[in-house]
Amino acid sequence: MSEMNNTMKFKKVLVCGSGTMGPGIALGFAMGKIPVSITDIDSGALDSGQETIKRGLELFATQGMIPKDAIKTIMERIEFTTDLKQAADGADLAIEAVSENPEIKEKVLRDLDNLLGPDAIIGSNTSALPVPEMYPDIRPGRLIIVHYFNPPHIMPLVEIVKTNKTPADVISALRAFYKKIGKYTVVLNKFLPGFLVNRIQLAVMRETLFLLEEGLAEPEEIDTAFKCCSALRGVVHGPFEHMDMIGLDVISAATGFVFPLLSNSTEVPKTITDLFSKGRLGYKGDGGFYDYPDETKEEHILKRDRALIEELKLFKKLVSEGEIKI
Ligand SMILES: NC(=O)c1ccc[n+]([C@@H]2O[C@H](COP(=O)([O-])OP(=O)(O)OC[C@H]3O[C@@H](n4cnc5c(N)ncnc54)[C@H](O)[C@@H]3O)[C@@H](O)[C@H]2O)c1
Repeated sequence: MSEMNNTMKFKKVLVCGSGTMGPGIALGFAMGKIPVSITDIDSGALDSGQETIKRGLELFATQGMIPKDAIKTIMERIEFTTDLKQAADGADLAIEAVSENPEIKEKVLRDLDNLLGPDAIIGSNTSALPVPEMYPDIRPGRLIIVHYFNPPHIMPLVEIVKTNKTPADVISALRAFYKKIGKYTVVLNKFLPGFLVNRIQLAVMRETLFLLEEGLAEPEEIDTAFKCCSALRGVVHGPFEHMDMIGLDVISAATGFVFPLLSNSTEVPKTITDLFSKGRLGYKGDGGFYDYPDETKEEHILKRDRALIEELKLFKKLVSEGEIKI
């Protein structure tokens, strides 16, 4: 087994699982000019994955992210197959994006371990499982968590979770590779349930649900405040940059005064339990906090994706001009 180093290149990627996440993950590599095979046990999932990828590319072209004539070339970089052995051939990075079920994951990870070359890295896109710690005998140091966000072909962040066995050059090789294909990475020093982004998101959910239950404001007002202030400013400054901008003297006073007043509940909020018990599941049900009488789910997703792509274009421009520091 050879030592990894910074010159390590990933020449072909395998994505295992063609559900909600796999196709967009595969598309990210193909758009970064990397040949990729996507595989699933269900050929129907591969067919719908192919449709998702085509729709994603057409949207990118319509919105000027890629030229229309690039679609064919990008599609040609993606192999769709139910044959894991064929997909693994020549792959030096595999992203496991199969169902969040430990038995399914273990079987796939062991199959990948047997099929891939000894230096290949396996990244698990698990949402919640400490995968490398669960299977310590599978590629110690080269099985790690790489966590994407939905929709993965648009959302530019990947969380990379280190284990105490992960060599530094595996991390630096992955970071360099993702940078090359236009993704941003954050490296987390250890596994914590929810990783980084989802923990922050859940903290925001807890407080906004608490404020709703306290009668401070209606969901429309809270969503407007978040979009027009917290999220808009958050694109320019992360929380630590924001604290520096405000002044740590002010932060000291504000945290001392307000922290004791914030929610620290560990219960599922009553608002969620009540809506859930009435079958109000959100978009996949008959609405949630809001009704959506005039919009199909597909229209809603399309509208979200269009807006996200416009934001991403501006974000990348501002980063490249040094207006936003990454
Ligand atoms: N959906 C999200 O928003 C999201 C976000 C981040 C991470 N994740 C994680 O990504 C992973 C995939 O999530 P998803 O939402 O795409 O799941 P999904 O249920 O939509 O798709 C899973 C796919 O895995 C396939 N599969 C099952 N067993 C297989 C096997 N043995 N070999 C090959 N394919 C197999 C299924 O046929 C299915 O197509 C999960 O670990 C999930 O927790 C999901």
